[in-house]
Amino acid sequence: MDTSIAKNVSVNRGVFTTTLGAVVATLGSAVGLGNIWKFPYVTGENGGAAFLIVYVACTLLVGLPVMIAEITMGRKARANAVTTMERVTENRKQPWWLIGALGATAAFVIMAFYSEVAGWVYAYVFKAFGGEVLSTNPEVTGKIFGDLVSDPVQSLLWQWIVLILMSVIIVLGVTKGIERATKFMIPSLFVMVLIVAARSLTLDGGATAQGLSFLFKPDFSKITAEAVLVAMGLAFFKLSVGMGCMITYGSYWQSDQNIPVKTTLIMFSDLIVSLLAGLAIFPAVYAFGFEPSAGPSLLFITIPAVFASMPMGQLFMVLFFILTAFAANGAMLSLIEVPVAFLSERFNLTRLKATLLTTGLLALTGSTAALSSSTLANFKPFGKTMFDLFDYLSSNIMLPVGGLFIAIFVGWVWGRKNLEAELSNQGALQNKGLVSAFYFVLRFITPVLVVVILLSGLGVF
Ligand code: PHE
Repeated sequence: MDTSIAKNVSVNRGVFTTTLGAVVATLGSAVGLGNIWKFPYVTGENGGAAFLIVYVACTLLVGLPVMIAEITMGRKARANAVTTMERVTENRKQPWWLIGALGATAAFVIMAFYSEVAGWVYAYVFKAFGGEVLSTNPEVTGKIFGDLVSDPVQSLLWQWIVLILMSVIIVLGVTKGIERATKFMIPSLFVMVLIVAARSLTLDGGATAQGLSFLFKPDFSKITAEAVLVAMGLAFFKLSVGMGCMITYGSYWQSDQNIPVKTTLIMFSDLIVSLLAGLAIFPAVYAFGFEPSAGPSLLFITIPAVFASMPMGQLFMVLFFILTAFAANGAMLSLIEVPVAFLSERFNLTRLKATLLTTGLLALTGSTAALSSSTLANFKPFGKTMFDLFDYLSSNIMLPVGGLFIAIFVGWVWGRKNLEAELSNQGALQNKGLVSAFYFVLRFITPVLVVVILLSGLGVF
């Protein structure tokens, strides 16, 4: 019964046609620019180790519970985010489907800047081929990055290349290939980041010590209410939760998958990739005199210096950016899928039309992010460029709000019976104690934490 529904849904949406690959695809949604680009830059901006501890705590107490909640509902309802919320709501008068609609909006906001960063990654594959970028001089690597982002034509072009490629993949339905690529890509990316971290950690003893203490020796005086909000936002962003992505991907999970165990494994793998990225970047920051708080440019100006100081560095740098591009693509496909599935199913559009509409709108909104360091550099609503605004708004407001309602819905409305049945695979798994603990966290800890962190981080109290 379950499988036949799953098949229908898959055929309609043309997404992952094998349920086997669904867990891998979920990992592919989680691992992305969040690990390689965002984790190092926000950790650098917020003072390092203390921020890392808050981030890990938020991952365990907020991100993971919401991820389990989303996947559970998606697998139960076997549908896109909006339809899932309708199917699991017994009282049809309650508008829980709005969670799905908010999620589709969040996907737009995230893609607006994510597609630009992915564009930089694509551009760096070619820059690595060219070779000039392989320098240990912060001024040189900084200038090369600055030249890229301050050129409106290049910025727009790379973003459009990304969006066109994503549309082609979605319309052609080559997700099977992506599934296979992800299986190969994530372990390769892992090994690659490990190699870069090993090189960075052996650059120079003093810098290694500084980098390690930056990442692992907490100084809690650096933690402000806003830093806590950013850490929680990162936890949501990293696990792709709070916006229906995991509901959608959960709908492809097989009925006999152990959800608590698999999601925890995904969470750990994702965390390890991020930590390795941190170990690749921070020792190099100190070895060559970069700024840990450089912001969104951190990856692009620091990592070339590590490659410049290793044998076959140019080849490794090409491979590194190709693998990062693959990781970004896996995450973007899951992002675009949320509005595309919604538009095509709700308004009866063909997938081609839904995709063109989505990416067309994305090219428009995204271009304001792409031009944030050039034409629109002085356009700063709320004191932030459009790029920073999209980045901030999505992780620190939209995902937490979405996650809050998901936790409240599953903890207080959907209820224990449904949850227990689904998480134990209708009684096949002996995990009552685990489910009770999870239920408690989801009801009492997650929502309270989200509300308190959100309101204090925004300065409400
Ligand atoms: N988790 C992805 C990353 O770290 C980003 C993402 C966020 C993807 C939200 C889907 C939904 O790159």
